[in-house]
Amino acid sequence: MANILDKFDLTGKKAMVTGGARGLSLGIARALNEAGATVVLMDVLDEVGESAKALAGKGGQCFGVKCDMNIVDDIDKGFDEALEMLGGRLDILVNGAGIQFRCPSADFPADMWYKVVNIDMNAVFFMCQRAGRVMLKQKYGKIINIASMNAFFGGTIVPAYAASKGGVAMITKALSNEWAGEGINVNAIAPGYMISDMSKTMRDVPGQVDELTKRIPAGRWGDDEDMQGLAVYLASDASAYVSGTVIPVDGGFMCR
Ligand SMILES: NC(=O)c1ccc[n+]([C@@H]2O[C@H](COP(=O)([O-])OP(=O)(O)OC[C@H]3O[C@@H](n4cnc5c(N)ncnc54)[C@H](O)[C@@H]3O)[C@@H](O)[C@H]2O)c1
Repeated sequence: MANILDKFDLTGKKAMVTGGARGLSLGIARALNEAGATVVLMDVLDEVGESAKALAGKGGQCFGVKCDMNIVDDIDKGFDEALEMLGGRLDILVNGAGIQFRCPSADFPADMWYKVVNIDMNAVFFMCQRAGRVMLKQKYGKIINIASMNAFFGGTIVPAYAASKGGVAMITKALSNEWAGEGINVNAIAPGYMISDMSKTMRDVPGQVDELTKRIPAGRWGDDEDMQGLAVYLASDASAYVSGTVIPVDGGFMCR
């Protein structure tokens, strides 16, 4: 029997990571890349190419594709471009692109509701669908959707985000039900309070960080490195019998 660590090895695997230009998804991309995978970062930011260049050479190859998850035609174009860079094979998809808009529900603008749901939930399905078409033919694939603790509870003044992340959890389970028997594992990671650009507005509120930190059993906020171990596990053959789960990475917050 092979050494257990061999099962975590991603050498030769082909991966796409949406939202990979920065933040938690870039941390995940770095980990996949270090574990041996060739990775294409897909992001709306111009810096996606620079982020890819900074990773390349650490493990497998790394490329960047500029693409807006808010536009279905752009998803199609970006997906096709990324697939070509990967030589037509796709072993791992990480759906990490996301935005948050904080506003009391009574005043929540319709345009922002549609935008958040479109990027945070609809695009996750469309990327899974396009990846699934490739993975079903291969009879192999690992899909990792980035949800949130808001998939379990509603949060405050983030109704579109909470609705979307709840939807991501259910897309994960629905696709797992269809595809786990076809060699495709579909799982989600639910990060807790993490340091990134997204959480900056929350962290900028005076006293908020201390107040929230008191409620995190681990006694600190998480960061991109905290995402890496679980992401590599879910992307690897070590998790062959794990599918349809939404796993918190939250320093124990969900148990409080
Ligand atoms: N930071 C947290 O506390 C936290 C907690 C729970 C879940 N999450 C989730 O983790 C994921 C990563 O978030 P983060 O904290 O690293 O935030 P971030 O803002 O640093 O990163 C989000 C990335 O998504 C990209 N993106 C946004 N809109 C896009 C679009 N239309 N098309 C393509 N790319 C787009 C951004 O350019 C950015 O690179 C998100 O799905 C987020 O909802 C974050």
